[in-house]
Amino acid sequence: MTLEETLLKSASAVGSGEVRRFTLPDGKISITRITTFCPDVVGPGPVHAYLVESDALVLLDTGLPTHIAKSFFYHWRAQPMPREVEELPADHSETELRDGFRLAERSLSDIDMLVISHGHADHFLMARSILDGHQILIAAHIFDTPAICNPWGLLNMWILRQDQMRGSGMPEPWSAQESARDQLREGMDPVSLGMALGIDQPVLRSGPLRVNRTPVKSVEIRSLPGHSPGSIGLLVGEGKDKVLLCGDVLMHPISPHPDDLLVYLRTLEDLGARDDIVLALPAHGDAIRDPAARIRALREHHQRRLKVTYETCAQPRCVWDVATLEGYFDTYVDPKKFNLLAGLEVLVHMELLHMVDGLRRVPAKGGVQYFVNSAESFEEVYGRIRELVTDSRSGAMMRY
Ligand SMILES: [Fe+2]
Ligand SMILES: [Fe+2]
Repeated sequence: MTLEETLLKSASAVGSGEVRRFTLPDGKISITRITTFCPDVVGPGPVHAYLVESDALVLLDTGLPTHIAKSFFYHWRAQPMPREVEELPADHSETELRDGFRLAERSLSDIDMLVISHGHADHFLMARSILDGHQILIAAHIFDTPAICNPWGLLNMWILRQDQMRGSGMPEPWSAQESARDQLREGMDPVSLGMALGIDQPVLRSGPLRVNRTPVKSVEIRSLPGHSPGSIGLLVGEGKDKVLLCGDVLMHPISPHPDDLLVYLRTLEDLGARDDIVLALPAHGDAIRDPAARIRALREHHQRRLKVTYETCAQPRCVWDVATLEGYFDTYVDPKKFNLLAGLEVLVHMELLHMVDGLRRVPAKGGVQYFVNSAESFEEVYGRIRELVTDSRSGAMMRY
């Protein structure tokens, strides 16, 4: 399939602001990608929102306000902020999104529905400020509504993670320290920030996207759990020439961090069995022009990471020992600097190995949990993981 691609605006020095249109072959459906600011290295990188024009106008994701990106990725996590980021105005991402709409020759009031790919802050926190005053339906998977609808959702997630972070041996950022709690709460006042959203249309399963009960032509919702419990994508087009707007489920060049690795590997298995997706457009990073190859690469990537994790646990290791192993991540993880996502990535690999008895817990030292491997070959342990991943009869949701 040849998609027509038009660059409507180039990216700025901080890597965001690009607007690019993809037109499907029959010319009746177009997808405009609008890229808004979010830091890379300390964060997942600029966020792509997608405006899908079929017989309804659908926006997938919004990005997050720049002042929240600064607080969350730099301040809360005690990371140094580059000057060019410091200089960005609070409404920088919002301006980028509005510019994208202007270049697509549409206005916010034209939107029939906002679909939120999942309940991570970088995908929906800007919705309240841009949709204010417009009557726009909002859809998200029901599993992610606790993160999206709770005005304290982001703070709740952060506080919930604190014990897990301590148990994994991670260094504490200032915001995890008792003395910083009040300051953190003040910075997250839900009334002044107004970030929680009401969901008009909870998504329960895959099927046609409906606006007021009417299916949108050639747009389907796909349930793609694992990166978060309620991750969804939009499958756009007909026949063997579909485009998957995949949120954070597939990415390139970075790999998405799974919230539950077993569930995520099952989603990759399902996607890998399809032969009708010719292009995947993720919420961060590059367009994926060979989705089948990217899915294979992601499966192999997790297999390698499971192997390294398993083998390094010949001696008792905590999560943070593994995260700071040289070469475990492409980007160096400074053992003294806090990096939540690096810790979570290791944690889910250890958890899956533990689930198939490849790792067992040894007594905690100073509140930090250590794990040691079962001294089998990795291939034996991985065989049990594959059985679990491909056995559709066994319950998928181990944790929720
Ligand atoms: Fe995400
Ligand atoms: Fe994301």
